[in-house]
Amino acid sequence: MEAIILAGGFGTRLRPLTYTRAKPLLPILNKPMISYLIESLPKEVSKVVIAANYKKEQLEDFFLKKDFGKEIIINEEPKPLGTGGAVKFAEKYITGTFLVLNSDIISSINFQEMIKLHRDKKATVTISLWPVENVREFGVVKIEEDGRITKFVEKPKPEEAPSNLINAGAYCMEQDVLDYIDTGRLVSMEQEVFPRIIDDGKGFYGYKIEGYWVDVGRIESYLKANQLLLDKLGLENAVGKGSKIRGTIRKSSIGNGAIVGRNSMVDSSIIFDGAIIGEGARVVNSVVGENSVVADGAILSNSVVGDGEEVKGIKENEVIWTKPIPKGYPRTQVGNVIRA
Ligand code: GTP
Repeated sequence: MEAIILAGGFGTRLRPLTYTRAKPLLPILNKPMISYLIESLPKEVSKVVIAANYKKEQLEDFFLKKDFGKEIIINEEPKPLGTGGAVKFAEKYITGTFLVLNSDIISSINFQEMIKLHRDKKATVTISLWPVENVREFGVVKIEEDGRITKFVEKPKPEEAPSNLINAGAYCMEQDVLDYIDTGRLVSMEQEVFPRIIDDGKGFYGYKIEGYWVDVGRIESYLKANQLLLDKLGLENAVGKGSKIRGTIRKSSIGNGAIVGRNSMVDSSIIFDGAIIGEGARVVNSVVGENSVVADGAILSNSVVGDGEEVKGIKENEVIWTKPIPKGYPRTQVGNVIRA
């Protein structure tokens, strides 16, 4: 079986971290987040097609060095084709039932169970579902007792919501889905393809994920995913190779070769490779990019610092990026399939 991993988005909500790197490669506990997804795939999935576009060289580099025991193909789109277009563009690799996965989800999904349900129901599409409290912010599904999905309702009022279940970004599909996607144009799987398949009366089912699920779309959810995996693994912190920790660290990930200076404190944060946290500095609920410096005595809270930046003084709720925005990087959000 093949799995297509959608990994070509710009990840605009995670800027400035995504000005310099592909979102799937953002580290969680010092491991690119796409690793967790690939490691959770069942044996049956022997081929993984990485649908890439933005920063595809970084993805190529990563997969050249890392062996997941599966065939990995980097399939570069000539231009971003959206979540549906990217799947169509991978058509030549698909030989039967296949998976389509957003690359930015950290979850406890059991793919084997999902595939089994898909087969038992003889479904055309089975999508993973996750319950939320704030239905107002999401597209929720109308689901029947037998698991059949009959409708998507965008951002409903709580009293009008047909359920509290949202699309969780992992799908199992039959090849006929490809007939619903035009070649070579931007197509959204969620907005265009799924509603048409439901309208045609094809078997469209939902599989509820049990356990945990985080959509690493924003800085807050990126930090949340880091906390969640630390907790799951029973770790207080994750510290990379060659790092020097001279201050106090709590519930944080510290990359390779980073320095946490004397009398400093890093709390609930992610510090990338080679970053320096100065003496007496405080970093709380923040992300500090690669080789960035938080100066002695500086305070950083609820903020994100891009790669190679320097921070002085007090920064709260700030996005720190002083260099030009890379050419071709969109000014506004392009993706956002889950919250569409
Ligand atoms: P935002 O710009 O912050 O919305 O992030 P994003 O571009 O990653 O979009 P979103 O989170 O909605 O995308 C969900 C998944 O689809 C992610 O894994 C993206 O990498 C992927 N994705 C989005 N658009 C494309 C595309 O045009 N081509 C490919 N190959 N993947 C895409």
